[in-house]
This record gives sequence, C-alpha cells and structure tokens, in this order.
Amino acid sequence: MTNTTRQWVLARHVEGAPVPEDFRLETSDLPAAEEGRFVARTILASVDPGMRSRLSGGDSYAGAMKLGEGIDGFAVAQVTDSGHPNFAVGDVIAAGGGWREHIVSDGRGFIQKIPAEWTARGVPLGAWIGVLGVPGMTAWFGMHRVAQAKEGDTLLVTSAAGPVGATAGQIGKKLGMQVVGVAGGARKCAWLRDEAGFDAVIDYKSEGDLTAAIAAACPKGVDVLFDNVGNESIDRVLPMMRMRGRIVVSGQVADYNLEPADRPGLKNTSVFITHRVRMEGLVVFDDIRQFPEAQAQLAAWIADGSLKIAIEETDGLASLPEAFCGLFRGENFGRRLARLSPDPA
Ligand SMILES: NC(=O)c1ccc[n+]([C@@H]2O[C@H](COP(=O)([O-])OP(=O)(O)OC[C@H]3O[C@@H](n4cnc5c(N)ncnc54)[C@H](OP(=O)(O)O)[C@@H]3O)[C@@H](O)[C@H]2O)c1
Repeated sequence: MTNTTRQWVLARHVEGAPVPEDFRLETSDLPAAEEGRFVARTILASVDPGMRSRLSGGDSYAGAMKLGEGIDGFAVAQVTDSGHPNFAVGDVIAAGGGWREHIVSDGRGFIQKIPAEWTARGVPLGAWIGVLGVPGMTAWFGMHRVAQAKEGDTLLVTSAAGPVGATAGQIGKKLGMQVVGVAGGARKCAWLRDEAGFDAVIDYKSEGDLTAAIAAACPKGVDVLFDNVGNESIDRVLPMMRMRGRIVVSGQVADYNLEPADRPGLKNTSVFITHRVRMEGLVVFDDIRQFPEAQAQLAAWIADGSLKIAIEETDGLASLPEAFCGLFRGENFGRRLARLSPDPA
C-alpha cells in the first residue's frame, strides 16, 4: 500500500488569467486512518471556475486561499482505510476533496455516500460532483428558490453549456418556460439546441450584435436572467427585463480574472425601479438541507434520459492545473473532471 500522497497547492497568488505555474505539486506522507477518520482514494476530481475568486488573496465569498494551501474542489473517491464508524472500506463517496490523490477525513463537511442504486440505473459517478453536485444544486435552487421560475416565463441563461447553465435551462424546459441560452462556439450551441432542448441558442463568439440577438430571441423580454458570466452580461440584459423580472447572480466567470476596480459596473439600473426587478445572488450551500430532494429528482431525470449531461475527463492528477486554466478560455465541454483512478469494478 502506498504511504505517500500528492496534491496541488497554491504556489503564488494569481494575477489575471490563471496559468499552470500558479500551482505546485507536493508529496507528503499518507497517514493511516486513526479512530474516527478515514482515507479515500480519489477517482475523479473537479475543476471549478468559482475557485478562481479564492486564488488572488483578495476578496472572495468563500475565503481567500493562502500560499501553500491545497487546492479545493470536489471529488468522487473510494474509502481505502477506515477507523470511522460511518464509512467502510469500499464505500464510494462524493465529497469536498480537491486536487489531491487522497482525502483524509473525520467525516465532517460535504460528504455523501453515492447510492449504488443510481449507479445501477446508469447515472455515472461523475454526475455526483456535476449535475447532482454543486453545479446542479446551484441550478436547481437558483431556478426554484431565487428565480421563482414558472411556466410561460422567458428564461435567458448565460454560459449556458456549462454544468450550471445547461441544468438551469433544462429545469426551465421542464417547468414550461421559453429557454434561450448564450454560449461560445458552434459545438456547444448545437448540443444545447439539439440535445438539451433549448428553444434558442446564441453563439456570442460569432454574433456581431449580441444585444440585438438576445432581443430577437426574447421578443417579449426576459422574465428570468440566470447569469453565470458577470456584470457586463447583466447590464446588457437589464433593459430587456420584464415587469417583476428576476436576475439570479450565480457566477461571474468573466469578472473573476479582473481586479475589482477593472470590473464593469451596472449602468442600466433604473429598470430595478420602473420594472420592479429583483437581483439576488446565491451560495448553494445555504440550501444543503434540501439537496437530497433535488438530487432525487435530477437523478431520476438522468436515469430516464430526459436530462442531458455532458461530462469530459482529463487524464490524471498532472492534468488539473491546465484543465482549470482552460475553463477561462471556454475549452471545457460540460463538467470537466480529471480522472485519477478507474471506477470501482
Ligand atoms: N453561487 C454558487 O453557489 C455557485 C456554485 C457553483 C458554481 N457557480 C458559478 O456558476 C458559473 C458556472 O459554473 P460551471 O461550473 O457551470 O462552469 P462553466 O459555465 O462551464 O464555466 C466555464 C465556461 O465559462 C465560459 N466563460 C469563460 N470565460 C468567459 C468570459 N470571459 N465570458 C463569457 N463566458 C466565459 C466558457 O464558456 P463559453 O465557451 O460558453 O464562453 C467556459 O467554458 C460559474 O460562474 C461559477 O462560479 C456558482
């Protein structure tokens, strides 16, 4: 049995777009599981755009990371050693893990045993840190609790091909909404239209006049803007918001790499008054007690084929920094995970 383990740590605070040199691989001893703890081997590890907001040492809703600290993320892992009463060797879990080969845990925090019944029904393990994990929960609670989404409304989703956006849009379709997505590139747009069932998709990378294209795709205006991109995106859509429209501030992927002073501001704010528009952000863990309900519904839709998911895998621990940096160049197609070891037999 291996007695060392490797993880990526923050080598320097990130300025602008992240590069692989911002991270450093470190090796340490792998402890045996003492009483009350377990060790799990990572199978899949995620890269998350929101992590960028923690890497510059400045403001972040989740707390800035210190130099030398292990990079956080989510992982599917299998317990290999346990002194914990609730986790047995062989259990497969989804957990807050990170860019590391092993998780050593006292069982607290965001950890869930992956129910074998859903695996047997064709739900891939990676979905538990994708559509059934934080991205999917963000879509679910953003749509239901924050947006109060309802039949007949027009929904506009930005970064629509990512795991958050694609799930939000498909929840919108299930609710009977008119769903319009904005995404980059022909491949993503075709998938959203032909697989995920969006009513209209706009490729912002090839569209000359994005504002006009959104207005044409949403002739009645926008009831719900589910925004993953940031201030410029919100400001563009504000004049198109309908009476009592809702803006879900899910993420700010276009703004994470900018210094706070360089981020675009909002100008078209009079619509908040004239159209009684509400704008609200969310931190998905506020809804953690309701995750099981949402997961059961989304897992059932994955199993019956009515919710489309895209998962792509990069190869090994070494691939994680580059996989992360590529998110900000639009390189990921769906949920991007690094595979560190094979699925259990
Ligand atoms: N509030 C919460 O609790 C919470 C939880 C999880 C995630 N989030 C947020 O949700 C958002 C979506 O997350 P996700 O995991 O589904 O990732 P994602 O949408 O796949 O994020 C990466 C994608 O963002 C787009 N992008 C990158 N740079 C951009 C730019 N400058 N302008 C416009 N688009 C850009 C690219 O897609 P294109 O090729 O289409 O441009 C890229 O493929 C993120 O902002 C994340 O921080 C929030």
